[in-house]
Amino acid sequence: MILEEIMKRHSGRVFADRPVSGEMLNSILEAGRWAPSCSNTQAWNFVVMRDKKALAEVHEALSRGNAYAKAAPVMIIVAAKEDGGCPMHELPYFAMDVGLAVQNMLLQAVHLGLMGHPTAGWDEAMLKEITGIPKEYRIITVVFFGYEGDITLLDEEARAKASRPRTRRPLSEIVHWNKW
Ligand SMILES: Cc1cc2nc3c(=O)[nH]c(=O)nc-3n(C[C@H](O)[C@H](O)[C@H](O)COP(=O)(O)O)c2cc1C
Repeated sequence: MILEEIMKRHSGRVFADRPVSGEMLNSILEAGRWAPSCSNTQAWNFVVMRDKKALAEVHEALSRGNAYAKAAPVMIIVAAKEDGGCPMHELPYFAMDVGLAVQNMLLQAVHLGLMGHPTAGWDEAMLKEITGIPKEYRIITVVFFGYEGDITLLDEEARAKASRPRTRRPLSEIVHWNKW
């Protein structure tokens, strides 16, 4: 069943004009909190916005391509310190920690009948300034949550884009059994 929900998750671009309950939002945050992390460093921090005034301010920092996300009733900025406290292999494990937390949140959203859309298209300096995120933190992603809207209401071009089948590289291309 979990695989079904994993495959059902998608980054749609139409959010319905429908609020997300506090209970649902808390369960999404809780799902993020319980992600694994390097030496349990838990690099993630979440700045959650859902009141209209706060959202209107941060919407100014979104790229033009992400204007669709202004319709989402919930926006979560995910920030982490670049070192994250886990220096193994000189790899940026803080980013992996954050990715795992975000995927947990996206899947919990699917489980609740919601949609989450992670993004990288925004002005980091502007978002940090507006929300007061300390300078030693980086914004890794901004995730929008809400109920999915009706894609049939989109214009023809946007509807065609939204209905395109989602694709992935086949297992035969990415899995190496025993040796590369
Ligand atoms: C780190 C990251 C950054 C992304 N940035 C954007 C973005 O700025 N705008 C956007 O519309 N989608 C963004 N996406 C969504 C991807 O385009 C999407 O996950 C990918 O095309 C696969 O589609 P799916 O999520 O529906 O399976 C981002 C996803 C990730 C993980």
